[in-house]
Amino acid sequence: MAGFDQRDFRSALGRFATGVTIITARGGDGRAVGVTANSFNSVSLDPPLVLWSLDRKSGSLDAFESADEFAIHVLGLDQEHLSNRFASRGADKFEGLAIGDTGVPLLEGSAARFHCRKVQRHDVGDHILYIGEVIAFHASDDAPLLYLQGRYGEARRREVAELSYDLEAARLGKGAILNLLSDAYVRIIARFHAEFGALGLSQSAPVVLIALSEGVIALDEITRAVEARAYRFSAEEQQAMVRQGLIAIADGRVTLLPEGKTAYARMLAAMKRVEDHLIGGLTAGEVAEARHFLAKLGNLAED
Ligand SMILES: Cc1cc2nc3c(=O)[nH]c(=O)nc-3n(C[C@H](O)[C@H](O)[C@H](O)COP(=O)(O)O)c2cc1C
Repeated sequence: MAGFDQRDFRSALGRFATGVTIITARGGDGRAVGVTANSFNSVSLDPPLVLWSLDRKSGSLDAFESADEFAIHVLGLDQEHLSNRFASRGADKFEGLAIGDTGVPLLEGSAARFHCRKVQRHDVGDHILYIGEVIAFHASDDAPLLYLQGRYGEARRREVAELSYDLEAARLGKGAILNLLSDAYVRIIARFHAEFGALGLSQSAPVVLIALSEGVIALDEITRAVEARAYRFSAEEQQAMVRQGLIAIADGRVTLLPEGKTAYARMLAAMKRVEDHLIGGLTAGEVAEARHFLAKLGNLAED
């Protein structure tokens, strides 16, 4: 025995999620047998081969050893009771199930069924490994029963994966104007924010200062201007600007203080630095075209 705890080993194996099958056969004496097994797996497509392993201690061992064929039933979500029945010893596992008197017992209503000819058997540790060649199969749309960490479960597709797939499908081409514009905007605005941050200004402060410089003084109007640019002018942000001595707020009105005027001038200088940087990479003709083009696009969006 390897130097590790068998319970830990089983528990680690249980982290591998599987489906659940019932595997049936008819022994040489004509007795129908069936066991619940999750050791089922596919092996080969051509030829079509599958495998599973049976505990040597199984009461069905003799029948499986003498049988030439077996049937693997992949259980559906509503067949948990059958899984439990075929995982227990003693009781008449086939009671109430129509399986006929001869041939491999075939159960109705499984998610999939593989009728196999036994082509190989191997003694492997405390189990016997059977390899079957599939001679007939059928599959239904029924949701399969799962087994994980000693408990039954059901399959659920990951929402995130599906969502990202949908987004990918809905995605505009890389050359779409919308994508190019938003990409340029995000990168340019990141440059602005780096400059503003160095001035100790929050993301909403520039919008507030610009609105004040344009003569807007009502707090709710300024707040709307900030929100239109997808920022927030929360009570904390308002207080931060007040503490910085940039503005005063009283009776729903905002006043630009001398310190605020200085910040506004610095902010304009920072904006000019970014603008100069961008323009520096364009020819005079491109700058004129860009201005014309962006203004036109804005107007078209409003039509
Ligand atoms: C989800 C699940 C999967 C199982 N997988 C196997 C398996 O792959 N091989 C096996 O021999 N027993 C497996 N068992 C245990 C057998 O179903 C159980 O020992 C059963 O009593 C055997 O029946 P028998 O002794 O009448 O042959 C599994 C049990 C459960 C609940």
